[in-house]
Amino acid sequence: MCSIIGYCGSREAAPILVKGLKRMEYRGYDSAGVATENENEIQVRKGTGRVSDVNSNVKLDDLSGKSGIGHTRWATHGKVTDLNAHPHTSNSGKIAIVHNGTIENFEELKRHLESEGYSFKSETDSEVIANLLQKNYETTKDVTKTLRKTVSELQGHYAFVAMFENGQLTAARSREPLIIGVGRDDLFLSSDVLGFIEYTDEAIYVKNKNFVILEKGKFEIFNYDGKHVEGKPTKVSKEFGDVYKDHYAYFTLKEIHEQPETILKAGEKALDEIKSASDYIRDAKNIYITGSGTSYNAALIAKQILSKYAKIKAEPIMASELQFSPDIIEKNSVLISISQSGETADVLDAVKIAKEANCKIIAIVNPLTSSLAREADVTIGMNCGPEIGVVATKSFTSQLVILYKIAQKLNGGNLEIDFRQTSESISKILKDSKNIQQTAGKLKGISDIYVLGSGIHWPIAIEASLKLKELTYIHAEGIPSGELKHGPLALIDDNVFVIIINPNDPTYEGTLTSARKIKSRSGAKIIGISDVKSDLYDYRIEIPKMSESQFPILEIIPIQLLSYYIAREKDTDPDYPRNLAKSITVK
Ligand code: F6R
Repeated sequence: MCSIIGYCGSREAAPILVKGLKRMEYRGYDSAGVATENENEIQVRKGTGRVSDVNSNVKLDDLSGKSGIGHTRWATHGKVTDLNAHPHTSNSGKIAIVHNGTIENFEELKRHLESEGYSFKSETDSEVIANLLQKNYETTKDVTKTLRKTVSELQGHYAFVAMFENGQLTAARSREPLIIGVGRDDLFLSSDVLGFIEYTDEAIYVKNKNFVILEKGKFEIFNYDGKHVEGKPTKVSKEFGDVYKDHYAYFTLKEIHEQPETILKAGEKALDEIKSASDYIRDAKNIYITGSGTSYNAALIAKQILSKYAKIKAEPIMASELQFSPDIIEKNSVLISISQSGETADVLDAVKIAKEANCKIIAIVNPLTSSLAREADVTIGMNCGPEIGVVATKSFTSQLVILYKIAQKLNGGNLEIDFRQTSESISKILKDSKNIQQTAGKLKGISDIYVLGSGIHWPIAIEASLKLKELTYIHAEGIPSGELKHGPLALIDDNVFVIIINPNDPTYEGTLTSARKIKSRSGAKIIGISDVKSDLYDYRIEIPKMSESQFPILEIIPIQLLSYYIAREKDTDPDYPRNLAKSITVK
């Protein structure tokens, strides 16, 4: 998955594009590149690595011209090489493109173009777009007709921006995000408002299967049938442009530290939405909860929260799996879809399946302008501000707070949770980071970590293992404490660390029993995350004493910090773990 951006206006394009790309780097950070038009000539600079490295190497922002396009890459077709980096030019060099997504029929198109004499320099599917545009432009001599013909030939999920040799920009969207930024003297095309938020907060969210033509400071939108479409500008929250690290070394650390405030903002000013969501849930035949990665782990916790506090049965379904068993979804049910970005392709596909079954969609999402928010019947905003670190941290705790708020509504006010107190307890844990940092030092050289938890703490153990994998590259597994004896115990030896999530609640004794089994059979080291001491722990990370409902929100915080500090011990970049990207808008 990649980020694409285009600019045309009264200023030099390249520095604006480079800044926009830096802000959207969360979408992919293998390679970067920029192309600009100057005196009817297209110049391209690109290379592998992060935007700032490529910029230092090839001076992207020195390119001249008032029209340009840019790209950051997350490789899906072809290795991470300079040649595969975008922008790609057509054979004539008169059209350049940047692309995000997948062209499913690229092999067939490529063969066809090759048979007509076109050649290809890269291994990407994207290069076919450039040559297809060239071929169609040479036949039609008209940019609008060219776009219409080209999109009729492409299959897949994609968004692209193309620049012609006179600097004219065009773009198309098929199920990947594309946004027009409308400035006073400039126009932007971008995967995310972060690409242009510094210059304008007027955004038009291009609809699926629409294309855009920019000309002489104006834009026109058409659907794929060639019909003119009205573009409605939306004011986007400037807050989403506020993506600075302050005094923190990394966004991830900053975002972990923001949680005492962000949990208080979750679902704030959404009383009506929370009420509508709970009405839908009460009236539904069945309740399903979906998400991917961390958001799916929140769905696992949602199942427990809803059954414990609202006596409502809900079935978590991994978004990427639903396509293989769509019949699970019964008509007239409710799908609660959880997504930080609101752009995850698997989640949007799950929503599509549920809508086809006449289900109501409740979205728990961060950007209220995201595709998921626009698809939903009711949307509850996380309000946690931009999460730039690729690894989800503050969005997870905000999702949990919203789920608790829905459960509170459903159980008629009998579930009291003092979120201010939760917030203060998170602050206490964050203050204790010295202890967590020291513990991290012990884990940096090991190859396996097992995380145990029972009941509601089991999904937290799964989320903990995801944080450890992503940030530390250490193999980690979340296991229900009671299952240890049914198999995983065979893996425990002197070289592993076991983290046990063990607050003093009804799961406490059972989890401690598993810890005893570990101690009596191996020299594995145990880290206890608990509000009570035990001799079984080699290391203890203290969490404050709390009511049972607050533990899940609290206990993930030390693991986020621990994973972050192990990453620093190993000298890896916590903000941009290898091979990952922030919002996965491809299948
Ligand atoms: C984990 C992580 C990913 C995301 C997943 C879903 O740290 O960041 O697993 O949780 O890709 O993303 P959203 O929530 O944007 O749908």
